[in-house]
Amino acid sequence: MSKKIAPTPPPIEANPRPFAYRNRLLHCDGADLAALAAEHGTPLYVYSARQISHRLQLFKDAFAPRPHTICYAVKANSSLAILRLLAKQGAGFDIVSGGELERVRKAHKPALKKVVFSGVGKQTWEIDAALEADILLFNVESEAELHLLAARAEALGKVARFALRVNPDVFAETHPYISTGLNEHKFGIDIKAARAIYRKAAKSRWLDPAGVSVHIGSQIRKVDPFAAALTRVTSLIADLRRDGHNIRYVDAGGGLGIDYGPRASTSAAFDPAKQVAKYAAALTKGLGTEPAHLLLEPGRFIIAQAGALLTRVLYVKKNGTKTFVITDAGMNDLIRPALYHAHHEIIPIKQPAGKSTLTADIVGPVCESGDFFARDRILPPVKPNDLILLLDAGAYGMSQTSNYNSRPRPAELLIEGDITRIIRRRETMRDLLAPEIL
Ligand code: LLP
Repeated sequence: MSKKIAPTPPPIEANPRPFAYRNRLLHCDGADLAALAAEHGTPLYVYSARQISHRLQLFKDAFAPRPHTICYAVKANSSLAILRLLAKQGAGFDIVSGGELERVRKAHKPALKKVVFSGVGKQTWEIDAALEADILLFNVESEAELHLLAARAEALGKVARFALRVNPDVFAETHPYISTGLNEHKFGIDIKAARAIYRKAAKSRWLDPAGVSVHIGSQIRKVDPFAAALTRVTSLIADLRRDGHNIRYVDAGGGLGIDYGPRASTSAAFDPAKQVAKYAAALTKGLGTEPAHLLLEPGRFIIAQAGALLTRVLYVKKNGTKTFVITDAGMNDLIRPALYHAHHEIIPIKQPAGKSTLTADIVGPVCESGDFFARDRILPPVKPNDLILLLDAGAYGMSQTSNYNSRPRPAELLIEGDITRIIRRRETMRDLLAPEIL
């Protein structure tokens, strides 16, 4: 009789992922996704609270050596319950609209003090609301906006703390739609022009030049561009100090990328803890001995891999040589593949037993050829009624949904340990028509 060899313990996963098979069925932490689909219907966004907290903690740990505030970028996923979860763990917020300000107020009012307000097109009412809320910092993107900010601050009798969002002219090697740090982009103020603008602004008693901010783009995988941008910002801060400004904040923006690649290679290729550590080291290098309080605006890194979109296969059809898997989710529910040709891994809810595969386009029901989630994707065979999961959809998924084709938006669930909570109910026909007047 051969001696039984004790199985080697599995390696400690460097990148714990919330979506994993248990007894051949896909779970989000402890929750069985097939059961959730049966109860709540599809399409359905599912998030792991544990993973969200874990990602926030990675940031906190990496930046622990210096004074900092993590201002989560609300646009990545603006669901109230998620904002509250983050706020309760100490996060502040990066907002870009009066609507996002309102969300922060509703989710956790004390967090208003940790809000930075970015965006190239702030309107008077939005500036007023942010002044009234006494937010931490306005990230101003043009001289004209600075004039308006001064006027509104005076009208309301408030002093506005502001940073100029400077454009450092750094190339970020990401998708052109989400790269923002070059002069050709609409964002920020030319870094060379900044010093003169601070000088003028300092003459107003309603403006407090409190910081400098920068954001070079999103889904940036190499950390060198962050270091380059901050080196330029740091040298500007030194000049501003020489000019007598009391600069207390340096806002490094967001943009740290994640791995949307195939799951099999994910753990080895991308260890989020290491990635944040590398990012922190790059920022620290750029900052040198600059003592200002560091503001960070991560969005995607915190929430993307904590969430997924669960959808049901409606039909499988062949057109000539091509196979199409048609799902009940469409581009209105997750627009990233259509808009940026973004890759999202797609896996079946039942772990495949065999090795057979299917090559297909995974498409939605929306009447647009651009309504696809994947093209020529190799996946285990699927049939109508099967459930599949689109991974890494927590960021810029739900927040970029629409009602296109008069489709109600999906529901959202938050898995908190043993508890599954509906954090947004599925939209109804009544919701769909509510704002309209006949
Ligand atoms: N701060 C500012 C000023 C931003 O404009 C953004 C994102 C962030 C922070 C957060 O960046 P993150 O850490 O999430 O990369 N919809 C696109 C991404 C657009 C990003 C816009 N700005 C996508 O789905 O890839």
